Amino acid sequence: MKISVIGTGYVGLVTGTCLAEIGNDITCVDKDHKKIENLKNGILPIYEAHLEDMLIRNIGENRLHFTTSVEDAVRHATIIFIAVGTPSHENGDIDMSQVDEVAGEIGKSLDAYKIIVNKSTVPVGSVKRVAEIIQRHLKREVEFDVISNPEFLREGSAVLDTFQGDRIVIGSTSKKATKILHDLYRPLKQKIFTTDPESAELIKYASNAFLATKISFINEIANICEKTGANVNEVAKGMGLDKRIGEKFLNAGIGFGGACFPKDVKGLIKIGEKLNYDFRIIRETLQVNEEQKMKPIMILDNLFPDLRGVQITVLGLTFKPDTDDIREAPSLDIINELHKRGAKIKAYDPIAIENAKRVLKLPIHYFHEAYDAIAGSDAVLLLTEWKEFKELNVRKIRSLMNRRVFIDGRNIFEAKAMRAKGFEYYGIGIDNCQFTAICSIEERMIPIENQKSHHTCGRAWN
Ligand SMILES: NC(=O)c1ccc[n+]([C@@H]2O[C@H](COP(=O)([O-])OP(=O)(O)OC[C@H]3O[C@@H](n4cnc5c(N)ncnc54)[C@H](O)[C@@H]3O)[C@@H](O)[C@H]2O)c1
Repeated sequence: MKISVIGTGYVGLVTGTCLAEIGNDITCVDKDHKKIENLKNGILPIYEAHLEDMLIRNIGENRLHFTTSVEDAVRHATIIFIAVGTPSHENGDIDMSQVDEVAGEIGKSLDAYKIIVNKSTVPVGSVKRVAEIIQRHLKREVEFDVISNPEFLREGSAVLDTFQGDRIVIGSTSKKATKILHDLYRPLKQKIFTTDPESAELIKYASNAFLATKISFINEIANICEKTGANVNEVAKGMGLDKRIGEKFLNAGIGFGGACFPKDVKGLIKIGEKLNYDFRIIRETLQVNEEQKMKPIMILDNLFPDLRGVQITVLGLTFKPDTDDIREAPSLDIINELHKRGAKIKAYDPIAIENAKRVLKLPIHYFHEAYDAIAGSDAVLLLTEWKEFKELNVRKIRSLMNRRVFIDGRNIFEAKAMRAKGFEYYGIGIDNCQFTAICSIEERMIPIENQKSHHTCGRAWN
C-alpha cells in the first residue's frame, strides 16, 4: 500500500520503517529539514534497537522515502498517518497545534479519497476535530475518512512492540476505512480491536494513566515497606503472581518519566476538568510521582549535613534503559536539585549524554565510562536500570569511591550483598537501615526527633 507518515519522531519513524519492512511503499514527512536530510543518508535522530538496520535496508530497497513536503506526501498515499507531537501546555492541557497544522495542510493537498489515521495521542473528539479542519481547507470536493489508531509502542522496544504488540486499536465509523486498515495490519498477526473513535482515543489515555498509577501505587507500597521492614521487591513478586494484578509495572523506584506518562496523565486530568470531572486517582498518581523523584535527595539529606561540595555521581540519565530520550526523566529534577544545593555533579549515561547537555545547562562533568565518573565520589546515584550497570564490578566501584554511599534508585542490586561489600547502600522500599541487626520494628517507629541519630533507622526521613 502507498502510505505517508507525517511527523518523523519516535512514533512516525518507527511506524514508517516497520510498515516499509512488511512491504509497503512509505513516505515519511517532517518539517525539520536537517532531520530529513540525515534520514535520507541513513542517519537516525533517535536510538532505538533494530531500527537503523531496518531503515537502511528499506531505503536501499526503495520502499522508504523522506520529504519535507506534506503536499507531495499526501498526493503519494492512500493512507496518511498523523504522528506529530502533542506536548503539554504549561497548565497540563494538550497542545494540539501540530495536529491542527498538519490537518490544515492535508486538507489543502487532498486530491482524491484518502484515509487519515491519527496516531498522535489526542483528546477525545479529535477525529471529529481533524475531519472538520480538513473539510475547511479542502480546495475541491473529495471524500476522506479520519480514524483513530492510537500508538502503544514503548521507547526502548519500539520495533518489537510494533511487530509483536498486544493489540492494535482502530476507532472508526467508516466500514471502508476500517477494512483497509485491517488489510494493512493483517501481516502483523496481532489482535485488532475495532471500536468507535471516541473510545479508541480514550483507550490510549486510560492505558497510560493506569500504568502510571500502577507505578505510583508500588512506590507508595515501597514507602510503607521502609517504615515496616518489609521488602518491596518481595511484596511486588508476591502481588505479581496474582494473574489479575500481573508482575509488570510493579518495580519500585524513583518514579516514571518520559515523553508519554507525565504528559498523558496531565492530559487526562484536563480532559476530566473540561467535563467538570475531578479525576482524583490520577491527580494523586502525579503527586506521588513528583515526591518519589526526590527520594534520592531525601536519602542524601540524611547522610550529609550539607551537600555543598559533596561529589555526587549520577549513573543513568534517561527515564528508562535502551532509549536516548531524556524527556521528563527523573534525573533532570534530581540533578537540578543537587545543583541548587551546591553538590559537585559527575554524570554518565551509555547513550544520552549529548541529549542531556542540550537540556541541562549546568556545570556537570560528563564521562564516557561509568568507572571514570565514579572515581573520587562521595555518593553514587543510580537512576536508570541500564543492563551495563547491573554488570558493573562493585568491588572496583568500592575501590574508586571516596565515601561509599550508593543510592540505587532502581533496586538493581541486592542490599545485603552491597552492604557486606562495604557500601552505605540505599534502595527504594527495602530495608534501608544500616544496622538492621540492632534496629527492631519498635525502633523504626521512633519519631525522627527522638532518634539518637539518623542511623538508628534509615526510615527516619519519612
Ligand atoms: N514517544 C513515544 O514513546 C510515544 C508512544 C506512543 C504514542 N506517542 C504519541 O505519538 C505522538 C508523537 O510522539 P513522538 O514521541 O514521536 O514525538 P516527537 O516529538 O519525537 O516527533 C514529532 C515529529 O513531528 C514533527 N512535526 C511537527 N509538526 C510537523 C508538521 N507540521 N509537519 C511535519 N512534521 C511535523 C516534528 O518535527 C517531530 O520530528 C505524540 O502524540 C505522542 O504522545 C508517543
